[in-house]
Amino acid sequence: MSKTQLPDSSIPSQGTRTIFDPSSLIAQRALDIDASGIRKVFDLGAKLKDPINLSIGQPDFDVPEPLKERMIKAIQSGKNRYTPTQGIAELIVPIRHQVMESTGWRDPGVLILSGTSAGIMLSMCALLNPGDEVLFLDPYFVMYRQLPRLIGAVPVAVDTYPDFRLHADRIEAAITPRTRMMIICSPSNPTGITLTAAELEAAAQIARKHKLMVLSDEIYDAFCYQKHESIAPLLPEQCIQLKGYSKTYGMTGWRLGYASGPQVIIEQMSKLQQYTFVCAQAPAQYAALELYQSHGVDMTPMVDAYRRKRDMVVEGLAGHFAINPPGGAFYVFPQVPGRRTATEFVARAVDKNVLLIPGQVFSGRDTHFRISYATSDEKLKQGIRILNEIADSEA
Ligand SMILES: Cc1ncc(COP(=O)(O)O)c(C=O)c1O
Repeated sequence: MSKTQLPDSSIPSQGTRTIFDPSSLIAQRALDIDASGIRKVFDLGAKLKDPINLSIGQPDFDVPEPLKERMIKAIQSGKNRYTPTQGIAELIVPIRHQVMESTGWRDPGVLILSGTSAGIMLSMCALLNPGDEVLFLDPYFVMYRQLPRLIGAVPVAVDTYPDFRLHADRIEAAITPRTRMMIICSPSNPTGITLTAAELEAAAQIARKHKLMVLSDEIYDAFCYQKHESIAPLLPEQCIQLKGYSKTYGMTGWRLGYASGPQVIIEQMSKLQQYTFVCAQAPAQYAALELYQSHGVDMTPMVDAYRRKRDMVVEGLAGHFAINPPGGAFYVFPQVPGRRTATEFVARAVDKNVLLIPGQVFSGRDTHFRISYATSDEKLKQGIRILNEIADSEA
């Protein structure tokens, strides 16, 4: 019998059939995520020729040579297959040692991740039931608001305006019987604010009192222009610490980070990784071994350069914009002068070839905008001049 398929008479010909609309199959949880704020900036940016781009959330330096060489060597020597779900033992051992040394934790679990983002997702999947609430400070990193919804949990943003500090009384006021998790991000994206030891102690007290798990997102820990403080040592049983290599080593595309915390929780996250991300990418795990050799990779010059750029932006805009001086990351979050919304202000800046991100992308308010100073001094100077001109014209 011929295997040729005969035309099915039940399917109307192209001329008469109504075209099926695949968007009718999209799930509500996908529709609920609104990426329009960031997309608008990207769309606007795509139209500009050689823009002064102060919207980028990643370092402007490239991966250091020793890491690149190690990555190439890993690929060439066949380190291209799945690794164990939790990561390669050679990498877990030094990370675990470092975690124990920096936190004082006695016996933490460690899970190597496809970027810190994977850790945010997996910890929420492991710890939150539908209806459970997650607290975080507003302004916030975009994933904190969107990811809980994917699993039916409830994001609760705690306002920190106008100083972007951690206000324990406001966190207390936001707690309900359904609160299960509190996210702490210091240094912060988008404000660059770094929390003090006293603020972290206040947050830890709340976590202890209400039996919350704290997700401590420390992806910007290397870009701290004074001593980096972590909440992790204060909460040995109640903290998942997330660290990443993306920002520190300019390797955002390599997708590598790790989570550490109580073994029982890390084991659950690892189980979930097995059925989702499977493992972090193998060559990047082998390349990261370079960081734990005796000579390591010194990023001090890059961190010093960003400290200087931070000062340049804060001082350059000081007369025209209200700014809470950031202590870390590579962001500044100035207030829009005058009466315009941040979205309107950003549109004006785009007209003058400067790309920024309006506050509403990271916040319930639209009164500030994010500057990333991870760019050349030349571009920064031009950007500062144009922003000050816009502020003058608003006055
Ligand atoms: C606060 C914060 N956490 C996590 C991430 C995710 O980083 P990655 O998944 O590259 O480790 C980012 C990236 O922008 C971030 O800003």
